[in-house]
Amino acid sequence: MQLRQEAVRAVLGAHYHAPLRNNQAHAFAPTNIAVCKYWGKRDSDLHLPLTSSLSVSVPTKGAEVSMQITEQQDSVYLNGQRLDPASDFVQRIVNFLDLFRLPHAWYVRLEIKMNIPVAAGLASSACGFAALVCGLNQLGGWNLTDTGLSILARLGSGSAARSLWLGFVEWHAGRRIDGSDSYAEPLPYRWEQLYLGILELSSTHKPLSSRVAMEHTIKTSKLYANWPLQVKHDLALLHTALAQGDFALFGQVLECNALTMHATMLSSWPPICYFLPETISMLHKIWELRHNGIPVYVTQDAGPNLKLFFLDDSKAKIVTAFPQLELIKLFN
Ligand code: PMV
Repeated sequence: MQLRQEAVRAVLGAHYHAPLRNNQAHAFAPTNIAVCKYWGKRDSDLHLPLTSSLSVSVPTKGAEVSMQITEQQDSVYLNGQRLDPASDFVQRIVNFLDLFRLPHAWYVRLEIKMNIPVAAGLASSACGFAALVCGLNQLGGWNLTDTGLSILARLGSGSAARSLWLGFVEWHAGRRIDGSDSYAEPLPYRWEQLYLGILELSSTHKPLSSRVAMEHTIKTSKLYANWPLQVKHDLALLHTALAQGDFALFGQVLECNALTMHATMLSSWPPICYFLPETISMLHKIWELRHNGIPVYVTQDAGPNLKLFFLDDSKAKIVTAFPQLELIKLFN
């Protein structure tokens, strides 16, 4: 806890524990999908990753927060429903807010509107904490830099560090023990023709949180030693693919990266498996389409759902093959 307080103090400087300047805030943050995954922490309190990672944000999916300062107690609403103050979800938020305030200094009524299912491997905590940090920045009148916001969002959930921008974003692992060099930055690449297709196979809660699953993988998988090498290799190739607009390279790297992450988890003991039977059958269907000349690639996070990447000119064929797909144009 001390380390987390220190990290917040380092970012806020003179604003740390100073009275808030505003009573209300409103912010939105997009969710992000990693094409080179973050899997494994070098510090679990500060959510410092062992490797860098690269994502693309989903402009139409995310979390919108409205915050109103109150004098009594925190209350959290998700999509209009008041949540049980004793729930893990609310406790996690309250613990995060406590990093920014003296005891009883202020409380907040927090309304979160999220258009993705919570805890189903669709990065709900990433956009949630990123939006929360943007809201706090407004309440405090802190005028933080993007780097500061990214560091604070990371303290809520690692992948939240990447949810402050649209487009491609890279989160630098950093080396310092205080995490002051572990933050994300937007990348200058755009890809007008790029589409994401969300194949939601289950919206129920994931069986194991990514936090627990990462720790377990590091402790028990012999394949984990290879993961940092894989990431280094994949990041370099992704930069090449993005700079050159090479979709086949981009797709191959993102799919291989996700499957390597899952293979590493499967090789831990007891094994961690986020695949449902439907996940496997859909993977086969995607591979069959590719075999038939349709360039479509897939990634999967800590849940059974799949995210497909393809270009504008294959859209019609992909929609015919997967009528249930939720289509999202990633760049406008
Ligand atoms: O930030 P967390 O603890 O929810 O972990 C995210 C882990 C993955 O989604 C599987 C990978 C990633 O880089 O987003």
